[in-house]
Amino acid sequence: MKLLLAAVALAALIHQGTSINCYYCTNNSAQPNPVDPNCSTPDYADPNFIHEWADADGCRTAVYTDGTVERGGAWGHPNGECHPGWDHTTCYCTGELCNNQFCDWADCENP
Ligand SMILES: *[C@@H]1O[C@H](CO)[C@@H](O)[C@H](O)[C@H]1NC(C)=O
Ligand SMILES: *[C@@H]1O[C@H](CO)[C@@H](O)[C@H](O)[C@H]1NC(C)=O
Repeated sequence: MKLLLAAVALAALIHQGTSINCYYCTNNSAQPNPVDPNCSTPDYADPNFIHEWADADGCRTAVYTDGTVERGGAWGHPNGECHPGWDHTTCYCTGELCNNQFCDWADCENP
């Protein structure tokens, strides 16, 4: 019994370390993410569009030049990393549900 409890506790610990909850949405139906017209709002907080990403260690926000916003999970990017692109900017963060913002908080000037 003790061993079983230890195994369960260990599994919970490992599980916690390898998954993260991120907002998962887009307001562009051409993208594969679940569509929420509100995904492009500045302080996004819709509990219906939270996804638990197994094996992810961060969250991602992509802001397109036309105003479209896409949110999801990410792997291997430090908090505040930002990649400006020709039609969209992608930034990364590493906390639970941290991708509720746009990218203006991230270091987008010095990628
Ligand atoms: C979008 O946000 C507005 C204002 O918070 C809310 O009334 C509406 O139900 C939301 N739409 C969806 C599809 O969740
Ligand atoms: C997403 O929302 C933004 C801001 O409201 C808007 O500018 C943009 O056109 C929307 N994208 C799509 C594909 O509807």
